Amino acid sequence: MKSIVIEQPGKLVIEQRPLMEPAPGEVRVKVSYAGICGSDVHIYHGHNPFAKYPRVIGHEFFGHIDCVGEGVDPARIGERVVVDPVVSCGHCYPCSIGRPNVCTTLQVIGVHRDGGFSDYAVAPAQNAYVVPAAIPDRLASMVEPFTIAANITAFLQPTPQDIALVYGAGPMGLTVIQVLKGVYGVQQVIVVDRIDERLAMARDNGADLTLNNLQQSVAEQLATQNCRPTLVIDAACHPSILQEAINLASPAARIGMMGFSGEASSITQQSITSKEISLFSSRLNSHRFPQVIAWMSEGKIDAEKLVTHCMPAHQVEAAMLLFEKDQRACCKVLLEF
Ligand code: NAI
Ligand code: MN
Ligand code: ZN
Repeated sequence: MKSIVIEQPGKLVIEQRPLMEPAPGEVRVKVSYAGICGSDVHIYHGHNPFAKYPRVIGHEFFGHIDCVGEGVDPARIGERVVVDPVVSCGHCYPCSIGRPNVCTTLQVIGVHRDGGFSDYAVAPAQNAYVVPAAIPDRLASMVEPFTIAANITAFLQPTPQDIALVYGAGPMGLTVIQVLKGVYGVQQVIVVDRIDERLAMARDNGADLTLNNLQQSVAEQLATQNCRPTLVIDAACHPSILQEAINLASPAARIGMMGFSGEASSITQQSITSKEISLFSSRLNSHRFPQVIAWMSEGKIDAEKLVTHCMPAHQVEAAMLLFEKDQRACCKVLLEF
């Protein structure tokens, strides 16, 4: 089999490897599509603190089960599946309360162990979820990015009367917009970014109002609308955004964070407590695959709206470069195996 391997930071190779065998309790998936994510690019550049090298990257992938390990029902062979990258122990404190995404011994497929940018990948059998016929092969790998939006919104519990403000109209911001509109029916979704082309995508994905904060601050623009967001989601993740979000938010608002910056954010207790603001953080997903598969099957979310490119897997370097450098034209880039 061929695998896309980051041998060491900065060095990507397409390597011929012996076909892997699924361990007991695992399935082997013959991969047909995989999505490129910012974290794949970070591993490539050596900017992911969790990655070990060499590593087969890719954690958004779809394919067919073609072999099962000991203890797995052979009837599963042939299933069309997407794979939840969150591999957890099942018995630590977070696992015991249904939060395997922050398992004390968390292993993320494509980060801590070999992933889906490969002709074949192995995963625990319970991580492979059947994809119904309503979801075409090409879009199935998009389930994973939507699970991130499903996870953060599960904390925030959006309601139709919320005024939501979403920072960032990249892949993460767009999945969040779609879930706020299509699943929770939020009336007013405002999206801020610095790139007009991305704001156009935000509108196409359901945003009611878009703001470009390159020239004029969000605060100034919202003041003219006399608008106080009741729900803020930071999908841009610059450390300066948290204080701004707290200042802009309505009393009793909820704020969702998803960034991993190691830089400090400067915030005061007063700005949070005086308005009794709730802060939530969200990492990856906790068992959200079935929910997202249902939303996609029912047409509540439309993955097609995020996919701007699909390229053959052997062009992975060009695809990753495009994804990284051309934020005006690119959102989700898929690889076909
Ligand atoms: P992206 O880089 O494609 O999109 C970020 C967008 O935010 C860009 O369009 C950029 O122009 C905009 N932006 C940056 N700073 C801004 C600012 N100050 N004001 C307004 N807009 C601003 O990234 P992507 O893939 O959408 O991911 C977004 C973030 O989410 C990343 O930081 C990533 O690490 C994080 N993430 C977190 C996950 C989690 O589970 N917590 C999972 C996946 C991504
Ligand atoms: Mn991803
Ligand atoms: Zn655990």
